[in-house]
Amino acid sequence: MGKQTSGNKMTTKMCGVALFFFSLLVFSDAITLRKIGVNYGRFGNNLPSAYESIEILRSMKAGSVKLYDANPEILRLLARTNIHVSIMVSNDEIINIAANQTTANKWVEDNVLRYYPDTIIRIILVGNEVLSYSSDAGKQIWNNLVPAMRRINISLRAQDIRNIKVGTPLAMDVLQTAFPPSNGIFRSDISTSVMVPLLNFLNSTKSFFFIDAYPYFPWAANPINISLNFALFQSNIKYRDPGTGLVYTNLLDQMLDSLVYAMTKLGYPDVRLSIAETGWPNAGDIDEAGANIKNAATYNRNLVRKMTASNPTGTPARPGALIPTFIFALYDENTKTGPGTERHWGLLHPNGTSIYQIDLTGKRASSDYETLPPAHNNVPYKGKLWCIAAPEVNLTELERALTFACNQGNGTCDSLTPGKECYEPLSVTWHASYAFSSYWAKFRSQGANCYFNGLAQQTTSNPSRGSCQFPSVTI
Ligand SMILES: *[C@@H]1O[C@H](CO)[C@@H](O)[C@H](O)[C@H]1NC(C)=O
Ligand SMILES: *[C@@H]1O[C@H](CO)[C@@H](O)[C@H](O)[C@H]1NC(C)=O
Ligand SMILES: *[C@@H]1O[C@H](CO)[C@@H](O)[C@H](O)[C@H]1NC(C)=O
Ligand SMILES: *[C@@H]1O[C@H](CO)[C@@H](O)[C@H](O)[C@H]1NC(C)=O
Ligand SMILES: *[C@@H]1O[C@H](CO)[C@@H](O)[C@H](O)[C@H]1NC(C)=O
Ligand SMILES: *[C@@H]1O[C@H](CO)[C@@H](O)[C@H](O)[C@H]1NC(C)=O
Ligand SMILES: *[C@@H]1O[C@H](CO)[C@@H](O)[C@H](O)[C@H]1NC(C)=O
Repeated sequence: MGKQTSGNKMTTKMCGVALFFFSLLVFSDAITLRKIGVNYGRFGNNLPSAYESIEILRSMKAGSVKLYDANPEILRLLARTNIHVSIMVSNDEIINIAANQTTANKWVEDNVLRYYPDTIIRIILVGNEVLSYSSDAGKQIWNNLVPAMRRINISLRAQDIRNIKVGTPLAMDVLQTAFPPSNGIFRSDISTSVMVPLLNFLNSTKSFFFIDAYPYFPWAANPINISLNFALFQSNIKYRDPGTGLVYTNLLDQMLDSLVYAMTKLGYPDVRLSIAETGWPNAGDIDEAGANIKNAATYNRNLVRKMTASNPTGTPARPGALIPTFIFALYDENTKTGPGTERHWGLLHPNGTSIYQIDLTGKRASSDYETLPPAHNNVPYKGKLWCIAAPEVNLTELERALTFACNQGNGTCDSLTPGKECYEPLSVTWHASYAFSSYWAKFRSQGANCYFNGLAQQTTSNPSRGSCQFPSVTI
């Protein structure tokens, strides 16, 4: 497919010194966009210091770092590094900023001007996946999102700052339909009220549509019909979109183009994409297929190679486009709740050593990496699972979790009452194991996890004894 670059078209109209300076500008901009960024999430109680983390990012040759706040220590430490920085306005600051220019100016003073330009702040993200929260309080933020972005823009412009982009990272759930890509369309509850003003803002400020795009999730939801290799950028499949005739060789391109078509339908075909988060989990629970080191390394290495190519591939709908990309995440984060994968998106262990080798510059050939441990869970587990107390945990905390599980009602712990079949042996570990299994079996369909802050774990072996039958989950 022909590659288009704006540089080529414009050079014919320019000459001499102007062309020289123009090329320099385009060149330096392009280099930054082409370097891989890393999300620096800090939901861990065992992570290296900010100082060490920045040294690690430098040694990994990360081009940029994305923060989930505007942490003063980190922003100060990033000064005079060549790492470009993305900072974030938290979701609960949006309404106040939208309401009051003074508040917006103060936010920019406190979180930008104090560090800029020594710290190369280049992106301000307003909120995080705001449109994925649909409670009443969440929806109130929706209407304030673009107004807050406009106020931040005004604050920056008042300081004559023009090299910081203002955006907002959204999740793929902003789409009502994502497949085939040409059917991409935004959800009707946000389309006219939020997406149109948002796209208008991004288009007129030449900012990016920041998307959190994880091929892992659609694959994990449908591993039968989606090829794992298609998700990992290593299949020979060529999927032809019936609407456009464009040919897709990987799942990420399909996801990105579904956004392109959704934007196009609202009249904004040219807003550039940036991937604010992507990645693949290196481990997970038994009921989470495909979460392993081999797939994580394969996904991220192939991603890096695609996104750093000197002739960018872009996507079928946008051949040649540069797509600034941030991998999620720097570390495995042990204080995140939810399923096991949530705590295993890292490139690095919490002690700062790598979980698998990865060259963020994209130059290293696949053959130059050490052999990866084989993947054992690429085929989804089928059968029964139980949720039991993890070994060697704090008994005081285990007892608290037992009480919590039993308090969820619906007869979760009926069998544990004196005289009932699971009462004996009278130990916290036994009772907690029963309660966890019973709770998980009852509430899994409503999103309950087998985790309990690390006190619980899944097992494939039936813990039932005698007449005490543990409830199980069948997957
Ligand atoms: C905006 O916030 C400032 C400082 O908190 C306050 O003095 C001012 O009255 C507010 N303006 C409006 C219109 O609410
Ligand atoms: C950004 O701010 C500048 C200066 O106030 C203004 O001219 C421009 O229209 C603003 N852009 C948007 C999209 O709000
Ligand atoms: C998007 O921005 C471009 C370039 O600034 C402009 O020509 C175009 O009219 C804008 N599109 C819309 C729908 O406003
Ligand atoms: C997989 O594809 C088959 C055949 O097209 C379809 O019948 C089935 O519903 C699909 N399964 C899922 C989970 O989408
Ligand atoms: C770092 O942590 C990992 C995972 O816990 C462990 O396997 C490795 O040995 C540790 N490395 C060092 C240098 O402590
Ligand atoms: C167990 O947890 C409790 C409550 O969090 C704490 O007070 C206690 O020190 C812990 N015990 C041990 C041995 O870690
Ligand atoms: C819990 O019990 C209530 C009332 O009997 C019932 O409506 C609900 O479906 C039950 N929930 C679960 C998860 O079993």
